[in-house]
Amino acid sequence: MKNITLDITKASCFLAEGAVAAFEPKVKAAQEALENGTCPGNDFLGWLHLPSSITPAFLAEIQACADTLRQNCEVVVVAGIGGSYLGARAVIEALGNSFAWLIQDKKAVSTGLQNPTILFAGNNIGEDYLFEMTEYLKDKKFGVINISKSGTTTETALTFRLLKKQCEAQRGKEEAKKVIVAVTDAKRGAARTCADKEGYKSFIIPDNVGGRFSVLTPVGLLPIACAGFDVKQLVAGAQDMEKACGKDVPFSENLAAQYAAVRNGLYQSGKKIEIMVNYQPKLHFFSEWWKQLYGESEGKDGKGIFPASVDFTTDLHSMGQWIQEGERTIFETVISIEEPEKKLLFPSDEENLDGLNFLAGKRVDEVNKMAELGTRLAHVDGGVPNMRISVPQLNEYYIGQLIYFFEIACGISGNVLDVNPFNQPGVEAYKKNMFALLDKPGYEAESKAIKERLAKEK
Ligand code: PA5
Repeated sequence: MKNITLDITKASCFLAEGAVAAFEPKVKAAQEALENGTCPGNDFLGWLHLPSSITPAFLAEIQACADTLRQNCEVVVVAGIGGSYLGARAVIEALGNSFAWLIQDKKAVSTGLQNPTILFAGNNIGEDYLFEMTEYLKDKKFGVINISKSGTTTETALTFRLLKKQCEAQRGKEEAKKVIVAVTDAKRGAARTCADKEGYKSFIIPDNVGGRFSVLTPVGLLPIACAGFDVKQLVAGAQDMEKACGKDVPFSENLAAQYAAVRNGLYQSGKKIEIMVNYQPKLHFFSEWWKQLYGESEGKDGKGIFPASVDFTTDLHSMGQWIQEGERTIFETVISIEEPEKKLLFPSDEENLDGLNFLAGKRVDEVNKMAELGTRLAHVDGGVPNMRISVPQLNEYYIGQLIYFFEIACGISGNVLDVNPFNQPGVEAYKKNMFALLDKPGYEAESKAIKERLAKEK
């Protein structure tokens, strides 16, 4: 089986000769520190050898729970935010039918069961969103996967309360228990208390796996299995990438080491923004997952590459001008899918009114690939370094490879940058203010202070 590959040639040419190789000692030291547990945030390294530690029995438990939901639900709502949501959404959207929202996807992979529609909620506080979701669910047999490591995240907890009440009202309390599943901490948090008290099926998020590194725990695996995708293959891809990016793999052959070295080299040379590019709209949420992984891991201590993303060719017609000729502080990382799952040939037309007969008989993907190549040449000419990750096919196995590749590269890269990639202290700032403004018990002093400040600012 082929692996994903990484082409750094059109990025390293923007750096001084030997600059990438010069990162080898730092990158090696960073990976050693991860392996030896001597890096900052070393109590959050459970993801490092997670793929190889996943057992068939664990996957069978995930599949059994997913099958229960699949048998009993037309719709499964996945409630979660940040790392408790983006990984599952990234995989489900990458592998699913682009029109899954409108049609029932009949491709039930492992069991032959009908795939339920998967909805995502608990990732915003939009009243319209939540109202419209509850309206949509009114005549549906729906279940809920409530995902929160802390068990106290406002967006998710607020949504879960709404969903729990609606599910119980529609199915009765006892039936609702069969279709509500919690994925949370082993002991702490309101989600754990609720799951234990109500007797919900629950899965544990390991203490030493942070949210944005948790897609290969039940956080990601359960929703992905529910959607009908093959989690064994996903894990197999991650396991193979764990080997391919192991600490003893030579620097020049280790994809994650190379990626970490190049992006740090570019950052030091003034390229402060990395744009994740795809040419398949299905990968939109994969970029969202990647942005969180790198943004929350590296953006601290006044440092960090800003992770951005675009969907090409769509965004060539909105962001293309900026990328081609704007401030030269950006570089691109392109995920290119070698072979789309489906085949569509462009038809010939006798009248040729649109002048497109030069494309007749070609696959649509051939046009897309030429757009990709043309864009790469133009952007490199325009001063935008370009890395290219080539993925043989968009399936569970290769998505698993991509996930682990980006995780290990992030761990290495954050250590090279000399930050703790596994904390997110900055996320607390807005929460503290919001709780103070909402008069949450325990925030009395902050509440007084913030109200005085706002009164002065009026
Ligand atoms: O990466 C992280 O740790 C965060 O993005 C969390 O996943 C996110 O804040 C959700 O937290 P929780 O799972 O505790 O609800």
